[in-house]
Parts: sequence; C-alpha cells; structure tokens
Amino acid sequence: MSREEHDRLRARPDLQSLGAAIQLLVTAAHALGYGACWMSAPVLAAPRLEQLLGVEEPARLVAIVAVGVPSGHPQGTRRLPVDEVLRFATPESGAAAESGRAASAAAPAPGETDRS
Ligand SMILES: Cc1cc2nc3c(=O)[nH]c(=O)nc-3n(C[C@H](O)[C@H](O)[C@H](O)COP(=O)(O)O)c2cc1C
Repeated sequence: MSREEHDRLRARPDLQSLGAAIQLLVTAAHALGYGACWMSAPVLAAPRLEQLLGVEEPARLVAIVAVGVPSGHPQGTRRLPVDEVLRFATPESGAAAESGRAASAAAPAPGETDRS
C-alpha cells in the first residue's frame, strides 16, 4: 500500500497533525500577547512563496500564519453551538459500539450540521 493510500484510509493524519500544529502556534502567539491569522489562501502562490521563503523538498507550504502586535481587540465572530458541530461517540451511543470505537470525536462533513 502506498503512503498516500495509507494516509487517505487514516483520514489524512498528515493534515490533522498540521492543523493541530498550526492551532497550537496561533494559540501560543495569542498567549504571548500577539495577534495571529491562519491563512491558506496565500498557498495559491506556493511556488513563488516557497522560493522566497526557502522552502525545499520534502517540505512544502501548506499555510501562512501572520503574527503581529494587534492594533485592537476585535469582537469574536458568531459560532455554531458546539453540539451542532461535534459529537462524542461512546459505546452507549450505538454506532461506536458496532464499529468497536469508543469515545471517538466525530465532526459533521462540510455543510452538514446534524448527524444524529
Ligand atoms: C484552514 C484555515 C484557512 C484560513 N485561511 C484564511 C485566509 O486565507 N485568509 C483569511 O483572511 N483568513 C483565513 N482563515 C480564517 C482566519 O484564520 C480566522 O480569522 C480565524 O480562523 C479565526 O476565525 P474567526 O475570524 O471566525 O474568529 C483561515 C482559517 C482556517 C482554519
């Protein structure tokens, strides 16, 4: 089995790890009093940015995190209620018992808010 197929079957642990790392970076910046913005749109210009930033194989650009001193404190944005976007599967909840998983986190697919 190729590395790509293995990662696909495991729901892309490479991308999950990157997301966790970037979130920790943003959270750490905030804890130190900085503002940070996680951006993937600049990756559209990855070839040029990789050249400018000296990113070389096997590394590749997947996101940019802008970090700086905030000029203000923006209001938080509206969030969906947690129970609409996150479900904890336990042995008692049925599906988890059938699949042998316990206490796994399951999030809805994009555009889907109710999996019950
Ligand atoms: C994977 C990902 C990619 C993002 N890419 C961009 C981007 O390219 N440009 C941008 O202005 N914001 C982008 N954002 C959103 C900002 O990082 C956003 O301010 C941050 O997620 C906080 O969300 P909030 O503004 O809803 O509080 C991205 C967020 C995520 C999670």
